Amino acid sequence: MNSTDLIAIVVLGALFWIYRNLDSIKEFINDQFYDNDPALGVNSNGTRDLVEVLRDNDKNYLVLYGSQTGTAEDYAKKFGKELTARFQLRVMVADLEHYDFDTLNELPDNIPVTFVISTYGEGDFPDGSVNFEQYLNELDAEMLDNLRFSIFGLGNTTYEFFNGAARKALDKLQNAGARLIGALGEGDDGAGTTDEDYLTWKEETIELLQTELDLSEDEDKQFESSFGYTELTTIENNTSLGEPSKQYLPNATLQYNSEGEQRGPFDLAQPYIAPIIKTKELFQSKDRNCIHTEFDISGSEITYQTGDHLAIWPSNPDEAVSQFLRVFELNPETIFDLKAKDSTMKLPFLCPTTVGAVVRHYLEITGPISRQTLGLLVSYAPESIKDHIITLSKDKSLFASEILASKFNLADALLSLNNGQTWSGVPWLLLIEMLPKLSPRYYSISSSSLSEPNTIHATSIVENTPNDTTGINTIGVTTNLLRNIQLVKTQGDLTSLPVHYDLEGPRGLFANGQLPIHVRHSTFRLPKDNSIPVIMIGPGTGVAPFRGFVRERFAEIKRDGSDSLEKMGKMVLFYGSRDNDDYLYRDEWVEYSKTLEDKFEIDVALSRVQEQKIYVQHRLAERKEEISQLLQKGAYVYVCGDAKRMAKDVQHAIANILSETKGLTESEAQEVVKAMKVAGKYQEDIW
Ligand SMILES: Cc1cc2nc3c(=O)[nH]c(=O)nc-3n(C[C@H](O)[C@H](O)[C@H](O)COP(=O)(O)OP(=O)(O)OC[C@H]3O[C@@H](n4cnc5c(N)ncnc54)[C@H](O)[C@@H]3O)c2cc1C
Ligand SMILES: NC(=O)c1ccc[n+]([C@@H]2O[C@H](COP(=O)([O-])OP(=O)(O)OC[C@H]3O[C@@H](n4cnc5c(N)ncnc54)[C@H](OP(=O)(O)O)[C@@H]3O)[C@@H](O)[C@H]2O)c1
Ligand SMILES: Cc1cc2nc3c(=O)[nH]c(=O)nc-3n(C[C@H](O)[C@H](O)[C@H](O)COP(=O)(O)O)c2cc1C
Ligand SMILES: *[C@@H]1O[C@H](CO)[C@@H](O)[C@H](O)[C@H]1NC(C)=O
Ligand SMILES: *[C@@H]1O[C@H](CO)[C@@H](O)[C@H](O)[C@H]1NC(C)=O
Ligand SMILES: *[C@@H]1O[C@H](CO)[C@@H](O)[C@H](O)[C@H]1NC(C)=O
Ligand SMILES: *[C@@H]1O[C@H](CO)[C@@H](O)[C@H](O)[C@H]1NC(C)=O
Ligand SMILES: *[C@@H]1O[C@H](CO)[C@@H](O)[C@H](O)[C@H]1NC(C)=O
Ligand SMILES: *[C@@H]1O[C@H](CO)[C@@H](O)[C@H](O)[C@H]1NC(C)=O
Repeated sequence: MNSTDLIAIVVLGALFWIYRNLDSIKEFINDQFYDNDPALGVNSNGTRDLVEVLRDNDKNYLVLYGSQTGTAEDYAKKFGKELTARFQLRVMVADLEHYDFDTLNELPDNIPVTFVISTYGEGDFPDGSVNFEQYLNELDAEMLDNLRFSIFGLGNTTYEFFNGAARKALDKLQNAGARLIGALGEGDDGAGTTDEDYLTWKEETIELLQTELDLSEDEDKQFESSFGYTELTTIENNTSLGEPSKQYLPNATLQYNSEGEQRGPFDLAQPYIAPIIKTKELFQSKDRNCIHTEFDISGSEITYQTGDHLAIWPSNPDEAVSQFLRVFELNPETIFDLKAKDSTMKLPFLCPTTVGAVVRHYLEITGPISRQTLGLLVSYAPESIKDHIITLSKDKSLFASEILASKFNLADALLSLNNGQTWSGVPWLLLIEMLPKLSPRYYSISSSSLSEPNTIHATSIVENTPNDTTGINTIGVTTNLLRNIQLVKTQGDLTSLPVHYDLEGPRGLFANGQLPIHVRHSTFRLPKDNSIPVIMIGPGTGVAPFRGFVRERFAEIKRDGSDSLEKMGKMVLFYGSRDNDDYLYRDEWVEYSKTLEDKFEIDVALSRVQEQKIYVQHRLAERKEEISQLLQKGAYVYVCGDAKRMAKDVQHAIANILSETKGLTESEAQEVVKAMKVAGKYQEDIW
């Protein structure tokens, strides 16, 4: 077979795949359109007409963001805030998800738009922005002659389609006649420079805007909150103590269907509080932990498909909460309410609430700190260190060596800079508006919806890196929470843990080991036809979805009998771990083999038990003839786990195999792999 044949087959496969997945694509898209939460006050009468809302609220600048995990949202808000503070522009900052764009061509040309958009998957828009992407696709030439815009993309060069969404938006907008102010800004997480990329883009763009809009700067700018603030004296039923959504306030009534299951939809606006019915440590090693957690979803309408992602909603640990409260001299008991100053503003969390609840449940307080954030705090810095803070906030490399290298979070950094003394006088409202919200973390589901429709399994490596020099542990919020729950449930010793949590949750909501979760549908799917062979590559925690895949086939054979085993295509799993102590689910694979016989095979690369590293891609290369034959038979390839190096190395290895066994040139082989990706025959679930 020559390369054109192979490509032709792959393209046919692509059409077939799209056809076959039509329903799941539709479901995926529909799933993302959860309603605005009226309690969070999106806009007073629920209109999705952008221009109408702008006009009604008398705004003269528009910032639109598309964000998956809140980073783009964060930058959009910072940008809007800066335009308001420095130039008194009346800025509306809005989620692309919440509006239709049909009237964008009627936007007055003196109202510029700034887009802030992150990229996911194969250069895709964030889930919530699919309506915007659709709008872009339908634009004609000259349709947006009225529009002046600037655009900042967020991405990670580790991924093949770097900033794919922002680049596509730029292209489509320009083709429709819109005029770009400045240049496309491209944030790169991969190089860890998103913050610096933003600052560079922002400075250039704002300078141009000043000329374009003839803006003059207000010199003695003071922080002014977008929210009205009132302190309250009593905790009522409608006061949030950290409930993940309004449905869980004491006075609210949860909805149930006729089977007694709690009604959804469960998504970023409302999670399900799921009991953890089983949890265990998977590693034998002393220095690392990996926690297996099983969530019971039988009390809810949640369904999932093998290959989906589970979102787990964390809270902050006691240690981080009390340190944060101490640095800013905050009283956790303070009860307050926020009111949006106009209908385009969304409240950042459920209100009324308490300071303590916000710090524990709603704000991301432990992550790395940005130079911009430090800059916002300059006017509140103690006099004795003010000059140093100004220097730090302006000097990229000094900031990197003094703050980033030490892995400080905000409280660590401020304490360290002020010799362990607190920072009084930082406005609480500034903290609320400046810090990102604490968002759910995603896990590749490691169970099968066929084999366990009522439970969802997650396999999570615990992020905890101590540093003896600084005494600072870099701690993963969610994974250490899972470890705490695991130890409590198994009556383990919690004293040696780096952090501890309020496991009871607000008003006892999470008692006895429950956590808020929701499911996000993915497109990572086994072929529907089980006679198609599959090659699965997942070292480390990357093995998670493949446990689900194998359990799925295992359950099919149990159900359909051994005759069906004969027709089943081969499943080969390439797995890698450091040694035997972190070999995940070791005993289980043996069990699956007993039923799946020679149709399932696990090939293990232990990297640290010999002098030379042996990785999954070395195992692939050793078996190139066999892999090549499987591909010829139409095998699907799946890769899961580390995106930074592993996924690229594996893609190379597969291309090499194709080139060596099919006589393709290197670049032809790479094209074939790309075509396979487009056809859904080479699927990645990488992070
Ligand atoms: C689609 C998808 C699927 C995934 N599937 C899995 C899976 O199956 N299993 C799995 O284990 N993970 C998976 N992940 C990763 C997972 O979502 C989380 O990112 C991971 O578990 C860490 O979450 P955390 O809340 O514990 O850490 P976070 O609190 O989010 O911290 C993230 C990292 O930053 C470090 N850090 C914390 N504070 C600082 C600081 N001040 N300065 C510098 N660094 C800091 C932490 O040590 C940690 O390494 C997946 C991710 C995605 C996107
Ligand atoms: N940035 C990185 O380099 C990197 C690598 C792996 C995982 N991670 C991240 O670290 C977290 C924990 O990972 P984990 O526990 O799943 O993995 P892990 O246990 O650290 O690694 C699993 C196996 O993969 C091997 N490996 C390392 N680099 C590889 C490569 N380029 N190609 C193929 N195999 C490779 C490891 O070998 P050795 O460790 O012996 O080299 C180990 O045997 C995840 O969030 C993941 O994204 C980052
Ligand atoms: C699962 C996953 C897939 C991603 N895919 C891409 C990609 O294809 N191209 C890219 O440039 N960045 C990609 N990124 C990086 C994100 O765009 C980047 O981290 C961004 O800052 C996230 O912004 P958000 O929090 O607003 O969604 C990906 C990140 C994750 C976690
Ligand atoms: C509410 O809707 C009406 C009719 O659609 C519109 O005229 C009005 O301006 C809207 N008001 C706001 C505040 O959006
Ligand atoms: C709680 O519900 C009762 C009855 O529905 C209602 O009268 C009361 O005002 C509600 N209280 C709060 C705090 O919402
Ligand atoms: C909350 O409850 C108090 C007392 O019941 C009531 O006065 C107030 O209006 C309620 N607020 C909201 C937003 O429902
Ligand atoms: C608060 O909610 C509880 C539970 O719904 C209810 O029994 C109680 O009457 C409510 N209290 C007030 C003051 O509304
Ligand atoms: C600990 O922190 C120091 C100082 O910030 C840094 O140079 C060093 O690399 C860190 N060590 C580890 C093991 O991360
Ligand atoms: C960029 O992507 C790689 C691979 O997923 C990941 O290791 C790295 O942490 C990402 N960068 C950030 C800042 O998220």
